[in-house]
Amino acid sequence: CGIVGYVGGQQAAPLLVEALTRLEHRGYDSAGVAVVGSRLQVTKRAGRVRDLAAALPKRMAGRIGIGHTRWATHGPANDANAHPHTDATGTVAVVHNGIVDNAAALRQRLTDQGVALASDTDSEVFAHLIALSDADTLEGKVVDALASIEGTYGLAVLHAGFPDRIVVARNGSPLLVGVGEKEMFVASDLAALVRHTTTVAHLEDGELATVTASGFRTFRRDLTRTETQARQVDVDPSAYEHGAGDGRPRMYTEILEQPESVDRTLRGRLDERFGTAHLGGLDLDARELRAIRRVKILGCGSAYYVGQMGALLVEELARIPADAEAASEFRYRNPIIEPDTLYVAVSQSGETIDTLLAVEEIKRKGGRVIGLVNVVGSAVARACDGGIYLHAGPEIAVASTKALTTMYVGFALLALQLGRVRDLSVADGKRLVAGLQKLPAQIGQVLATEDRIAELAATLARSESMFFVGRVRGFPVAREGAQKFKEISYRHAEAYQMSELKHGPLALISPDVPTVAIVPDDELTDRNVAALHEIAARGGPLVVVTHAGVDLGALEVERIDVPKNETELDPLLLTVPLQLLAYHAALVLGHDVDKPRNLAKSVTVE
Ligand code: G6P
Repeated sequence: CGIVGYVGGQQAAPLLVEALTRLEHRGYDSAGVAVVGSRLQVTKRAGRVRDLAAALPKRMAGRIGIGHTRWATHGPANDANAHPHTDATGTVAVVHNGIVDNAAALRQRLTDQGVALASDTDSEVFAHLIALSDADTLEGKVVDALASIEGTYGLAVLHAGFPDRIVVARNGSPLLVGVGEKEMFVASDLAALVRHTTTVAHLEDGELATVTASGFRTFRRDLTRTETQARQVDVDPSAYEHGAGDGRPRMYTEILEQPESVDRTLRGRLDERFGTAHLGGLDLDARELRAIRRVKILGCGSAYYVGQMGALLVEELARIPADAEAASEFRYRNPIIEPDTLYVAVSQSGETIDTLLAVEEIKRKGGRVIGLVNVVGSAVARACDGGIYLHAGPEIAVASTKALTTMYVGFALLALQLGRVRDLSVADGKRLVAGLQKLPAQIGQVLATEDRIAELAATLARSESMFFVGRVRGFPVAREGAQKFKEISYRHAEAYQMSELKHGPLALISPDVPTVAIVPDDELTDRNVAALHEIAARGGPLVVVTHAGVDLGALEVERIDVPKNETELDPLLLTVPLQLLAYHAALVLGHDVDKPRNLAKSVTVE
């Protein structure tokens, strides 16, 4: 979900709506704005921000307001459940990100007090609790309300009786205050602010702020002041644009940007002379690196799949046992935290709640955790003991592409450094450094085969269901490929280990169920080709992502050849055509590539 707020000399409603379009990747089920002019006015709608824009009344005047774009958690996406939520008298309006854990009890309590609830949401309780407070100030009312709340929030509050201010509060869900010229902004994400200002204050958890046209001041729940300051952030506003400018989806720009983003991840981190990597952000010396006996990687969605690729890299290069697990599973199973394990949290946004809570659980139990994170200063980055920033630049499309390939490179650098303080030779280190240096140009070569991939995508898009298969290094590639395909094409795409097919799923293979197979040129090629025969013998159409050196004999397959790198680094280049495959399939099916149904870019709720 996304939050925006404005107070200053301009009309708030159109400005808020424009800002909301920049947060739409965070949720796009419904949207709304509230402004205070002569009174409080609210407009909210199920659907996209453009539906909200069309519904705005002409006379929605007011120079202060808040807005929201929603990804439904409690209650379906309809007009009533859209934010802002108001109290019964229409005096208070709130927008909320996060989850109120005790919402059921609070809703019951309010109902018992005779309050008529207008929505199914947890967020609505904020509006009523604030309205019911008898504190004299808006700050006091908000603090009163928060005393009853258990859960997480990024919150912005507007009150008709205090028309000069927005009060915001943060607990587990990001909130920023943007400083302009005699105008001030509020947002849950920098993307909404950069067009207006790059002078920004990040609230801490437990902090609140009063924002007026002339400035802001921060305080704690006991109303004592805090010292949070606004700082200039060094960002390029154009990097946050949603489309590519030429009408192409943002995902397409992000795919094409990968040679540069991977280059940025590598920059300054390779040591050609000694065949190793320098990762200053880890803050671990050689002795500490050597003491690590196990590596455990945690992430969600695509970050989890790339974590599996990373675990293999660590095992291969450093010969340290490593594995990856979905952060959400990890944190719910009372994990055993070992002192000599290096935990690695991987996240583009650095906000995914399951990843963040996994990090906090590790820290609570005294473990050491580093982050592979794209967004600088994000919650995961701050919670970790150190880490590797990815430098992918802002990723806006919901389906992750450029962040993912930079994560892979981050793992390769980590594995290389862990390997070189152990038994990875200088020669092997140099071989891998050279391999990493080749990646940007080789990604470019894969991108140059787009037309061919687009043709295959159009064919695959006709199938309701398909498999993505791979073995060892190829399996996480297949998982990520299937994920990408299903999330934007809405076709059923299931990833399987190549050799497990014959233990069940082979029953589904038919001329209507194609298989995308990952068959790198490595020590397992023969085994993989044998599995392709088993699929072909059942009439299953095959698309094989492979290397030019692989001989597929008489097999009738569609092949996509990617450039060969060092065997350990091949998964990255095998992943790139699968992005284009998913992208073009979604495009021919006419889907909104950047905003697939039911999803959101960052899942900040449990
Ligand atoms: C969401 C997105 C995925 C992403 C995952 C993890 O589910 O839709 O594309 O991989 O979150 O996000 P993170 O920001 O932690 O990498």
